[in-house]
Amino acid sequence: MDRTAQLIAHRTETSVAYDPALHAHPLHVGAARVLEQNWTGTSTVPSRGLYPHQWSWDSAFIAIGLRHLSALRAQTELETLLSAQWADGRVPHIVFNPSVPLDAYFPSPDFWRSSTAGRAAGAPRGVETSGIVQPPVHALAAWLVHLADPELSRARGFLARLHPRLAAWHRYLLHRRDLGGGGLASVVHPWEQGMDNAPSWDAPLARVTPAPARSFRRADLDHGAPEDRPTDLDYGRYVRLAADYRDRGYADGPSDFAVEDPSFNALLIASEHALARIAHELGAGGTARHARAERLTAALIERLWDPRTGQFLCRDLRGGGLVHERGVSGLVPLLLPTLPRDTVVSLVRTLTGPHFGLGTATRLAPSYDLLGEAFDPHRYWRGPAWFNTNWLLERGLRLHGQREHADALRRALLDTARESGFAEYVDPYTGEACGATGFGWTAALALDLLHTPTFDLRDMRDKGGDRA
Ligand code: SER
Repeated sequence: MDRTAQLIAHRTETSVAYDPALHAHPLHVGAARVLEQNWTGTSTVPSRGLYPHQWSWDSAFIAIGLRHLSALRAQTELETLLSAQWADGRVPHIVFNPSVPLDAYFPSPDFWRSSTAGRAAGAPRGVETSGIVQPPVHALAAWLVHLADPELSRARGFLARLHPRLAAWHRYLLHRRDLGGGGLASVVHPWEQGMDNAPSWDAPLARVTPAPARSFRRADLDHGAPEDRPTDLDYGRYVRLAADYRDRGYADGPSDFAVEDPSFNALLIASEHALARIAHELGAGGTARHARAERLTAALIERLWDPRTGQFLCRDLRGGGLVHERGVSGLVPLLLPTLPRDTVVSLVRTLTGPHFGLGTATRLAPSYDLLGEAFDPHRYWRGPAWFNTNWLLERGLRLHGQREHADALRRALLDTARESGFAEYVDPYTGEACGATGFGWTAALALDLLHTPTFDLRDMRDKGGDRA
């Protein structure tokens, strides 16, 4: 057996920094079970019932947790996703599993028709995918997965293989998707930003004529309570936007819906810093990429910062101007290492103030303004607390030296993940489970917090210091 094969055989047996006490922890055991149940052999489904394929940003978050169980599986997760990348650089938001029946999820492959409608944009031939994207968490995930086991990563050429794909992905977003001309990437569908029915989309979506209800059949309501899910009217608009994009051959250009979102762009910037670290590891530079990440941070502040609310807001490129709805998306930039001090102070004040109530009114940060007219503690992204956004906030608080807030949030995340059965999202006040249970990124990110209590992303901006 050669060295790489030996390493792989060994790593399949044991996880990297094996700590028996931690591995016996009930949270570790429970999270590992969820990730095992959701593993298909080459990737992880977000949820066996509700989301039975591979989702792009789910996989990135899942890989971040999976690296504590098996660095090999975490590498495979990202490799599977990126092997479905389109020739124009986009990473599709869903990679369909051909063995799952068409009616198990809507919109199914026969709606997206990637291999025919997406041909001009370079959709792969061997696999069916959706034609829209999701937030670019992948370079960040790839770097963290590498740090979990650099020896295995180097032996398998993990970063060397992923680097050109990740670079093409960022190029696609920064060039084809700079629809506002200010340097930031735009989303052309609420599913791309990931917080599907957030109230920030209400105004931009109101201009979209919904597809008739009889023209499609939702599969999500077979698995989730209707009051936890988006409405039929929202779905009609999602379907119309996706069908129009498909019918344009997935070509980017003028569209009815185009929004610059703070969380999507913050994740792109964090991933630019990570890509710089990856390039440096491969001996391929990286300094220019760090500089670009800093310029993008400045553009984010210039275009999306709102001093009056003390947070970032979405910019509706078709409706003119900032959307005055306070969503958790506008706090996620706390994750950025070169954010000015006064911006950090304002964001922490907003997070812990009456609109998000963290540490006072709420257990976990809600997805939307507690005092907002559209607030609903159970309906998907209109109020419930999600584990990925809270993980990002925890990492951001720690990065900026807010240790007490970060420690308290970490504890609340761990407790709520376990008590809710690794729920998809929870009531932000009570922690009551909503949506699916046994949810992939909830288990993965809880696992990550359990294993890296003090990790911070500070070194993402430097060249040195490989801390996992
Ligand atoms: N989140 C969407 C759904 O509910 C699509 O990615 O299916």
